Amino acid sequence: MPEHKAKVAIFISGGGTNMAALLYASRLPDCPYEIVLVASNNPDAGGLELAEAEGIATFAQSHKGMERADHDAVMERAVLDAGAEYIVLAGYMRILSKVFVTRWAGRIINIHPSLLPKYKGLDTHTRAIEAGDSHGGATVHLVTPELDSGAIMEQVKVAIMPGDTPDSLAERVKLAEHQLYPRALAAYVARHARVSA
Ligand code: GRF
Repeated sequence: MPEHKAKVAIFISGGGTNMAALLYASRLPDCPYEIVLVASNNPDAGGLELAEAEGIATFAQSHKGMERADHDAVMERAVLDAGAEYIVLAGYMRILSKVFVTRWAGRIINIHPSLLPKYKGLDTHTRAIEAGDSHGGATVHLVTPELDSGAIMEQVKVAIMPGDTPDSLAERVKLAEHQLYPRALAAYVARHARVSA
């Protein structure tokens, strides 16, 4: 049993199914991390309600009408106030400023719904199907200022089936993401804890 659980803030913009997977995994025995905050740029993000119901502190600040750096600073304040050591992006649909990302280097992680380095950015499933790929998938990676380009931590492949649409593929990729993300995060924070022990 790890003595110290790594404190994690999750950033979401939408439904937050990956957030839910990370949260429920954190409540299983021996998980080396705990969720101390769920924060969003979208006050209507469905995941906020779930986090609240599960007794997790939440924070929401719309980015509308704000400079990027100012919005990032408000989000960061919430992270620091919650005592979080890691930021985990789970469907956070904002590009973070270079200064922010650089300050959190090595402690900010994202999940992307493709087998990076293929299909950075949006519409990953459409692009994989249109290219005739045999597999889509998901990648957990470190966040760096360049979009979807940081070091790859772990990946999972998902077969593309005949007749798959972007939606049907997205649904299966999400199932795979929900397995991958908690595992990749747990392995990462445990390794960090050993290195800094
Ligand atoms: C996931 O597909 C993730 O890979 C991408 O955004 C989506 C978030 O979905 N970055 P959810 O809000 O976790 O359901």
